[in-house]
Amino acid sequence: MKRGKFITLEGGEGVGKTTNLTFIKDYLQQHAIAVTVTREPGGTALAEKIRQLVLDTDSESIAETTELLLMFAARAQHIQHVIEPALAQGNWVLCDRFTDATYAYQGGGRKLSIATIALLEQLVQGDLRPDLTLLLDAPIDIGMERAQKRGAFDRFEAEKISFFTRVRDMYLTRAAEQPARIKVIQANQPLVDVQKDIMEVMKQFTAC
Ligand code: TMP
Repeated sequence: MKRGKFITLEGGEGVGKTTNLTFIKDYLQQHAIAVTVTREPGGTALAEKIRQLVLDTDSESIAETTELLLMFAARAQHIQHVIEPALAQGNWVLCDRFTDATYAYQGGGRKLSIATIALLEQLVQGDLRPDLTLLLDAPIDIGMERAQKRGAFDRFEAEKISFFTRVRDMYLTRAAEQPARIKVIQANQPLVDVQKDIMEVMKQFTAC
């Protein structure tokens, strides 16, 4: 059985991840590719409980290192129970956020050590890395406005503009460092144009 491909979708708040995740899933299915759609933090019952813990605004204040370890704890569970089995059986995996989010939010946003994140990445993932990452990029104010319309903020959405500027910068830095894997999509265009760009990337990727 040929191993499946691992695709991740990344971006700041309110950049249109949900709509475009469905678009990518539909694109793959139209090309007769079996796809497992999942998300982080989350994707298993236990990892979804961890998600609630890290997004909940009512909890005691969460230490930054605790937050980092919870992200990787959820990820370890998700990889073992969902991602690896799906890839091994030939399914493609489409994941709403993965470790680039940890570099962006915990590394960029919280200013935690990149070397520590890389160490945990190696420990938890071994050789597992996404084959393709689509990064939806939009100016912070546009994303925050969209996120605001969705209702009450979670623990991350309640952060300051400076936090999201660092998140965005870290995503873009990683995209510049790894251009073969991370494809930047301008998310502040009309949706038809965003999806045209996504389709172009998917066409090239599925042709390989
Ligand atoms: P969502 O908004 O895509 O549902 O993701 C939930 C939040 O979790 C989002 O604000 C980003 C944050 N997050 C991290 O801080 N680190 C991570 O490693 C992941 C996967 C998500």
